[in-house]
Amino acid sequence: MNIRLISQSVFTQPLPAVVVFAFHKERPAVPASLKPLLQRLTGKEFDGSDKQLLLLHTGGKAGIRAARLLLVGLGKRAEFNLEKLRRATGNTVKRLNALGLDRAAIQLNPDTPETLHAVVEAAILAGYKFTEFKAENHSGNPKTLMISTKLALPAAKQILQNAQVVAESVNYTRAIADLPGNIVYPAELAGRAQKLADEFNLTCQIFDKAALERDGFGGLLAVGGGSSREPQLIVLEYNGGPVDQKPVAVVGKAITFDSGGISIKPSDKMDEMKFDKSGGCAVLGIMRAAALLKLPVNLIGVIAAAENMPSSTSYRPGDIVTSYKGTDKRGITIEVLNTDAEGRVVLGDAIVYARQRGVQTIVDFATLTGACVVALGDFAAGLFSNDDALSEKIRAAGERTGERCWPLPLWPEYRDKIKSDVADHKNTGGRYGGAITAAAFLERYAGQTQWAHVDIAGTAWATDERPYFAKGATGFGVRLMIDLLNQPK
Ligand code: BES
Ligand code: MN
Ligand code: ZN
Repeated sequence: MNIRLISQSVFTQPLPAVVVFAFHKERPAVPASLKPLLQRLTGKEFDGSDKQLLLLHTGGKAGIRAARLLLVGLGKRAEFNLEKLRRATGNTVKRLNALGLDRAAIQLNPDTPETLHAVVEAAILAGYKFTEFKAENHSGNPKTLMISTKLALPAAKQILQNAQVVAESVNYTRAIADLPGNIVYPAELAGRAQKLADEFNLTCQIFDKAALERDGFGGLLAVGGGSSREPQLIVLEYNGGPVDQKPVAVVGKAITFDSGGISIKPSDKMDEMKFDKSGGCAVLGIMRAAALLKLPVNLIGVIAAAENMPSSTSYRPGDIVTSYKGTDKRGITIEVLNTDAEGRVVLGDAIVYARQRGVQTIVDFATLTGACVVALGDFAAGLFSNDDALSEKIRAAGERTGERCWPLPLWPEYRDKIKSDVADHKNTGGRYGGAITAAAFLERYAGQTQWAHVDIAGTAWATDERPYFAKGATGFGVRLMIDLLNQPK
C-alpha cells in the first residue's frame, strides 16, 4: 500500500472516494464541496455509531472532486480511543478493497500525531493477507491512500514513516508465522534471520546442533531431538545505543511445529500448532523495526527454534534434562513429565543465554500455554514479571498499541507446584493455573535479571477475521515491544 500525506486544502484532483470519520451524533466534517450531500441525510441513515459505514455517491456535480463519500462512524467522542480508530480504519480499507477502489483520501479526524500513526498502521495491517499459495493472489494489488492532515508536514512525514516501518515489520513477522511446518523449520528460520541481518546490518550468530551440543544447550537439544530437522539457537544483535549501555534481550519461542512429541496431541486441530513459532517470528520483526527506526538502544534477539516430534530419538516422559549453564556452576535440571510442555524447556536455555550476555532486561514472547487462552481468551496476552515496574510499563504499552497484556501473579505457591522429587523442577504443574506454573518455571532461569514473560498463545493467531487483521498470524509483540523501547527510561 502506497500512503501519501496531503494538506487540508486537498482535493484539487478528482478522486474515486473521500473517507470521513465522524463521531456519534456530530455533523461529519466533510470538505465544503461535499456538504450539500449531507443536507437530506437522516440520523437513521448515518449517526456516527461505532462500526457504521455509509457510502454516498456525489453525482459528480460541478465543484465536487470526489465521486464517492464514505462516512465512517467512530462512536461517542467521550469513548474514543486509538483502538477504535484502528478498527474503523481496518473496516474502511476492507470496504475500499471490496469496492475495487484503488485510490482514496482519508480526512484525519481527530487530527493528532497519535491518530495519524494509528490510521497508517491499521491501513497497512488491514492490507495483509496470506495468499502466497493461492491461485487467485490478492496481495499484488497496490492501493494509494492519501491522508489529509493539518499537522506540520515534516513532523507528519516522520510519523508516517515510523508507522510504516512498524506495520511492515508486523506484516513481515506475519508472513513467516503464517507459513506451515514443512516450509519453515528451524534451519529455514535461521536462514531467514541471517538474510534479515545481512539486509539491515545486524549481527547474526547461529548455533546449529553441533554448536548446541558443544555448549550444552540440553533443553533445546532434548525438545528438538525427535525431529530430523535439527534445532537452532538464533542470536541477532542491533547496537543503536551507547557502547556502555546494557542491552535489552527479546527472547522468542519458535517451535516450528508442535505435535506434542511422545505426549502427542489429539489430531483434531493439531494443524494449528504451526503457529507455535510466533514468538520467535515476533523477535525477527522487532529486530527489523528497531534497525530501520534506528532506535537508540542495544538489543539482542534470541530465538529458540526446534520441531517437537515423536520418534525413537525423542525425549520422553520421565527424562531428566540439564539446561544450558553458561558460566554458572551447573545447569538447572528438569524432570520431563509431559513432552508437550516443550516451550518452557527451550526457553530456559534461551533465557540463561540472554542473562549471560549481561543484559539489563529480558522480555520473552511465547505461545506457551492453552491455559492462558482459557484465562484471557484472544483479547489479551498473559503478562508475568519479576519486576512490577517493568510489568506496568508493558501493560501500558499494550494499552497504547492495542496489543493488550494482562498481569497474572507469580506467587511462591505456584513454584511449589513444579517441585520435583528427582530434579530441580518438573515441566508441568497440573491442570490448575497452567499459564502461571509455566511462567514460574521460566522465572527460575531469569535469576536476578529483570524479566517479563508474555504468553501470546491466545493473541498470536486470529481464528476469525478481525477489523484490521485477516485470519492467521497477527505478529503480536512487535508493536508492543517497539512502543516499550520508545519510552524514556
Ligand atoms: N504450544 C502449546 C500451547 C498452546 C496450546 C497454545 C493450545 C495454543 C493452544 C504448548 O507447547 C503446549 O502444548 N502446552 C501444554 C502444556 C501442558 C502439557 C502442561 C498445554 O497448554 O496444554
Ligand atoms: Mn506443546
Ligand atoms: Zn508449544
